[in-house]
Amino acid sequence: MGEESGQAFGIDIGGTGIKGAIVDTNTGRLVTERKRILTPQPSTPDAVAGVVAQMLSAADWQGLVGATFPAVIKHGVALSAANVDKTWIGTDVDACFTRAAGGANDVIVLNDADAAGIAEARFGAAKGVAGVVILLTFGTGIGSALLVDGTLVPNTELGHLELNGHDAESRAAASVRDEHRMSYKKWSERVQEYMSHVERLFTPDLFVVGGGVSKAAAKWVPLLRLNTPVKPAELLNDAGIVGAAMAAAERRGE
Ligand code: BGC
Repeated sequence: MGEESGQAFGIDIGGTGIKGAIVDTNTGRLVTERKRILTPQPSTPDAVAGVVAQMLSAADWQGLVGATFPAVIKHGVALSAANVDKTWIGTDVDACFTRAAGGANDVIVLNDADAAGIAEARFGAAKGVAGVVILLTFGTGIGSALLVDGTLVPNTELGHLELNGHDAESRAAASVRDEHRMSYKKWSERVQEYMSHVERLFTPDLFVVGGGVSKAAAKWVPLLRLNTPVKPAELLNDAGIVGAAMAAAERRGE
């Protein structure tokens, strides 16, 4: 498919799966079915770039591409690597994927939680919300996105705040609940402690909670006692794809 204005290809790269689809950047809806390919193991730059190339050529896509990556991304370069091969650290992910895409596509890369934050701010739970919005994704780790009047402040990494001498995500990520077979009630106490810490630091206007556990939001969000309203994410599985495509379109000025 050739480039059409108002469309971008979004790719969501995670430790277990890589998902992609063409997105209508005016509506945030997927134009094509979501494709999912298992993340190659080991998830080295060459192997992951191969999957990116495969996805774009299967869709015959030439145009804007946005991709999420589970790392701190500074000017296209990965400064960390969560659940992907450590050889990514120091790699120019932008350049690596742009090469994989055959040069015809300019690929823009951003942190996975930052992408979810953009998607929720444009089309989901934080749409039209002024002031400070913090999105937290609870999954294998904890990701964060900070938005001020809809503008992203990238790479906040609030999942790594120190909580009682521990890395917060090692105490309150959704994976910790699974690992220790905790009830939602028990786990929500940890989330409460973590989120009230974040609340004290930022006094946000809204929290959006995402990640796989947002599907079960009714089981734990009502148990939280915070001064800030908490809304579950609305884009669920598509947040990364949509946010990546939006970031690419916005960077291009569309
Ligand atoms: C990483 C973040 C990432 C989050 C969610 C954390 O461990 O440090 O960069 O956004 O996991 O994948």
